[in-house]
Amino acid sequence: MKVLIAKNYEDMSGKASEHILNRIKAKPNIVLGLATGSTPTRLYQNLIKDHKENGTSYRQIITFNLDEYVGLSGDHPNSYRYFMDHELFNHIDIPKENTHIPNGLAENIEEECHKYEALIKKHGGIDVQILGIGQNGHIGFNEPGTPFSSRTHVIQLEESTRVANSRFFRSLSEVPTHAITMGIETILEAKEIILLASGKAKAEAMKRLFLEEPTEEFPASALKNHANVLVIVDEEALGDLDEKDLQKLNLI
Ligand code: F6R
Repeated sequence: MKVLIAKNYEDMSGKASEHILNRIKAKPNIVLGLATGSTPTRLYQNLIKDHKENGTSYRQIITFNLDEYVGLSGDHPNSYRYFMDHELFNHIDIPKENTHIPNGLAENIEEECHKYEALIKKHGGIDVQILGIGQNGHIGFNEPGTPFSSRTHVIQLEESTRVANSRFFRSLSEVPTHAITMGIETILEAKEIILLASGKAKAEAMKRLFLEEPTEEFPASALKNHANVLVIVDEEALGDLDEKDLQKLNLI
């Protein structure tokens, strides 16, 4: 796991967009794995700005999002489809049919999960997966205790995750109780993974990620079993590590 330290959220986002744009230049039909949430929003704004100013094209790019709430339609303002359309897709030249997000309204959710896996395979797998991290170490919506061998599946959200995400809803009761998420094994099949973390709220999770052995009780620790992970983390999110801990990191 390589670690790139950023000064703050701005700097983390700038480093992340630079990295992604280099990957797009090298492979204009890249398959990108995308995340929602507060962490990647500035990264997406940077990509939009670059698209407008430098004309980077997304016409051949394929995207797969990590997750979606069960029970919300794509035009619900809290669905992840709505988020992605408004935060990124509507502002770049990517054909909508190239963008994939699990369908939270699918009648047969099991079948939807299988279809999602098959689609990723059909496109040759994910080249670069962008991840945020939950305070409890979740990646995608894989909550603590999710087997590392999990594939795309339905998960019951932890109360702490629902509370954390209620900031986007009018009230906690409106936050869905279930989501579809890529599994941990699905995520680990990406050829490269970029994990982003910013702010004090993530400091404890980052300390666990860097210092603990892999355990299913802390889903992000599965990333230690992947050969090509870059963590871009800002100083606040590194705040719980002391000098000795920092020396153990593979800093680039
Ligand atoms: C989002 C996702 C989640 C978030 C995580 C952090 O698609 O899969 O794992 O990355 O909950 O969320 P933020 O960035 O809002 O702190």
